[in-house]
Amino acid sequence: MASLASRAENYGRGTVEIDAEFVEERDVLERLRTAFRAPDYEPPLLPAAALQLLELARSPDASVRDVLDVLEYDPFIAGRVLRLAQSPAYGAATPVRSLEQGVSRLGMNTMAEIFFHVSVSSRVFRAKGYEKAMDALRNHSVAVAHVARLVCRATSLPDEYAFLCGLLHDVGIAAGLIVLADVRAPKAPPPLFEIQRPVIEAHAEAGTIVCASWKLPPDVCLVIEHHHHPTIGGVMHPMAAALGVAEEICRANGFAAPAEEVAAQPNVFESLNLGGVIRRRLEADAKALLGRLT
Ligand SMILES: [Fe+2]
Ligand SMILES: [Fe+2]
Repeated sequence: MASLASRAENYGRGTVEIDAEFVEERDVLERLRTAFRAPDYEPPLLPAAALQLLELARSPDASVRDVLDVLEYDPFIAGRVLRLAQSPAYGAATPVRSLEQGVSRLGMNTMAEIFFHVSVSSRVFRAKGYEKAMDALRNHSVAVAHVARLVCRATSLPDEYAFLCGLLHDVGIAAGLIVLADVRAPKAPPPLFEIQRPVIEAHAEAGTIVCASWKLPPDVCLVIEHHHHPTIGGVMHPMAAALGVAEEICRANGFAAPAEEVAAQPNVFESLNLGGVIRRRLEADAKALLGRLT
């Protein structure tokens, strides 16, 4: 495939002057798919500690000391984890003054999720030229993560992976922007409005590839793959449906993903028996929680 730049350079062979590159959506989509499917594709890296911590938090043999050793491995990340653990969004009733207090008050699992939140924010939701879009994507992902957990609690679904699925469901958008931001100066990445549709079109596949490369549990990868089409083999996947509900609530409260125009999926509420009073209570709780995030 000719690169976007070479197509533009050769265009007209001097008889027609152009001062901007033409970016065709089909070309961008092909470029993204080729990049993601290439055997040498290098997904954004997460600190090994994030994955190690996730495993530890779910191991019945892990001690608090094991978890603290990982939490403390990088002072910069540890400081940000502690700051977030103090946020009312994570539900600490009284101030958390140390990582040890965080583990005992919020639990190993929540501390692992906070560590993941910090790691993904600092390592993955970043691409030169797309800073604003990445900020909006991070805010959307964190919001969906928190609300997905609320949805699980309101419906008695196991919420073990709810936060992680919410946090990572659109990681394919980040992966797409990172690929497109990878241009050599003096060239600049194409403007968002020119590439947003193909990025969205490729993002579920890209997210699945990224999460598989991080060796996340297969169910998390499955949910990410199907988060816009939660019916798998004729059956609605409950966690994918919970994400659909969380997406809709977040969008209604001003936490939409950048450039993501998602058709509402009214049947996700019904599939989780979220109607009447329960739905209204969930929406009110989620609104209050999202207010604490801003
Ligand atoms: Fe998405
Ligand atoms: Fe989303």
